Amino acid sequence: MVETRVTIAIDGPAAAGKGTISKAVARELGFAHLDTGLLYRAVGAKVLAGAEAVDAATSLTAEDLEAGNLRTPEVAQSASKVAVIAEVRAALVDFQRAFARRLGGAVLDGRDIGTVICPNAEVKLFVTASAEVRAERRYLELSASGHDVTRDDVLADVKARDERDMNRAEAPLKPAEDAVLIDTSELDIDAAVAKALQAIMDKTAH
Ligand code: DC
Repeated sequence: MVETRVTIAIDGPAAAGKGTISKAVARELGFAHLDTGLLYRAVGAKVLAGAEAVDAATSLTAEDLEAGNLRTPEVAQSASKVAVIAEVRAALVDFQRAFARRLGGAVLDGRDIGTVICPNAEVKLFVTASAEVRAERRYLELSASGHDVTRDDVLADVKARDERDMNRAEAPLKPAEDAVLIDTSELDIDAAVAKALQAIMDKTAH
């Protein structure tokens, strides 16, 4: 059997559903999945703990990715701030590219996978939704996991991250020219995953 090296790049703003779609697609296809936001969150968490950003990025370990606090709003903001620094991004490139070309296929989700990390990915999806819908989803997620947040705070956080992620000089968040756009504002999880799988089938059918 010929092993596949297909790479699926899934980009989009915070809380658009990339993570859920990526995990479901990877499970369905038997591919490995890398949530690249976790790399930036791990660096962001180390900075909140007192480290210097570039040092944190160049010395990142597997254990750093398993830290318990990586899903908090504070770490998300810190991740978005360290992600502006070119040297931080550069330190994380090789790991992401090696993961992308692993045997058996890979799904990577993030902000710059289709544009910078894997411009030759066989499939590129850009998953988006309105800021209000994304904030509501993130609010429900955070409150369900015991975080004391308000809807207004979460919407302000989402908008601040969008603004920073889309307007930075280095690898800004934007769809690759050949990306398939999926707006999940009016889709439930099953419908969004079905759209993603259909787009993947269309792109990989020869
Ligand atoms: O996907 P996430 O919410 O876990 O990402 C956290 C932050 O990390 C995001 O606001 C910007 C940054 N990030 C990035 O710049 N590039 C990526 N490929 C993934 C995340």
